Amino acid sequence: MVTPVDYTTAPTNFENIPEQEGDWRTEITAMMVQLQERRKAVQNSEILRGVHPKSHGCLDAEFSVNTCLDSRFKIGLFAEPGRSFKAKIRYSNADVLKRADLEVDEDESGNKVFKHGSRGMAIKVLDVDGPVYMEDGGAKNQDFLMINTPEFAFRNVRDYRRLTQVLLASADAADPELFFLPLKLLELGVLDPSGNLLPPQPSEPEIVKKLRLLFTSSDLFKDFSADDMRGALSSFAIVQKIQAKAVRDPIDARYFSAAPFRFGPDRVMRVSVEPVGGEQPVPPFSDAELAALDADYLSKALADRMACTEAIKLSFKIQIADAAQLEGKIDDMIENAAMAWDENDHPFTEVAQLTIHPPEQDVELVDRCKPLLFTPWHALNAHEPLGGINRLRKPVYSTSATFRRTT
Ligand code: HEM
Repeated sequence: MVTPVDYTTAPTNFENIPEQEGDWRTEITAMMVQLQERRKAVQNSEILRGVHPKSHGCLDAEFSVNTCLDSRFKIGLFAEPGRSFKAKIRYSNADVLKRADLEVDEDESGNKVFKHGSRGMAIKVLDVDGPVYMEDGGAKNQDFLMINTPEFAFRNVRDYRRLTQVLLASADAADPELFFLPLKLLELGVLDPSGNLLPPQPSEPEIVKKLRLLFTSSDLFKDFSADDMRGALSSFAIVQKIQAKAVRDPIDARYFSAAPFRFGPDRVMRVSVEPVGGEQPVPPFSDAELAALDADYLSKALADRMACTEAIKLSFKIQIADAAQLEGKIDDMIENAAMAWDENDHPFTEVAQLTIHPPEQDVELVDRCKPLLFTPWHALNAHEPLGGINRLRKPVYSTSATFRRTT
């Protein structure tokens, strides 16, 4: 039995919804389907997930709420200490194309530049008790979707809309470079830090003239604001952080929800998963390793782990913020998915563990979760997804899944 959440009084409002956001969500949802269609042609494949199409493996697990749990954590999924649920886990790349797990380039100075997106981990806790926002093929499941940084690379729906437009305008429907054009123009002195166009120097080089023209003539930047410049700077910093993270085995990484979720009527949580005992430091790849690295090295690492019969234990942790801590900080802590919560003010506490039992027989792991839909909206009411990025995910994930399942 789950202790009922007290909704006799209305839950505290923790959101600030921009006026135009509903229109932007509709626009992005339609664009996501167009992107899936375009990428089908680019990759000569079937229709795949709109994001995270490449799986490293799909595993069966047990999700066990800790037996000793402080009473302030006994909410929603965690209401019953010691309760165990069956679960599925899908590890993936966030990259929107099914490309090599890691590609290496050189910058203008000959330094190595790693190219890869975030690594993803999605958990589906099966057959939970209590009202949910969206049923999962008739079942009540609680999903958690995570990436391997505490920040999502885009703050809100407005930033994500420009990214989606940029992707759609690119030749392979997957190139985000134009999103960062304003930063290049800032560096070249064409834009000021507030995104205003500066007058050209008398001897402006041809290449700079071209970039200036690209900015002024493209619809993508027609209402570019000082806040959009802050968004581009924030995204750039997080992309650098993502690319600097070496992952050798998906199981050993630390994952974060980045976006916030209700924790009962009057608190909010963010979640994280890491190996029991903590994330171990991952040494960077040597040149020799890079030269020999398989395009699918992450699924191979996972398969190697599954070939060993030992059970693997992961720690499921939450960070909590209450109404007093959120007072005056909704725009930063709820509406900005690109801002991590300070771990000193909001320490992570383990509330559950995941146990992965390697399959007894040699089974194909990579495509086992192909038909499943993981969405943050497969959620108990006690864990309502909050903030713009989560509001956007409600129509987008279902539409992406319906399109790939029915086309
Ligand atoms: C905090 C932010 C986010 C996180 C942590 C996150 C994480 C993930 C993960 C781990 C998956 C893979 C699920 C699976 O294995 O099936 C996924 C799938 C997906 N994500 Fe996100 N994501 C975020 C934001 C977004 C946003 C803003 C969009 C676009 C509006 C988006 C669009 C998608 C789509 C379309 C899928 C595939 C849905 C399907 O067809 O099953 N995500 N995401």
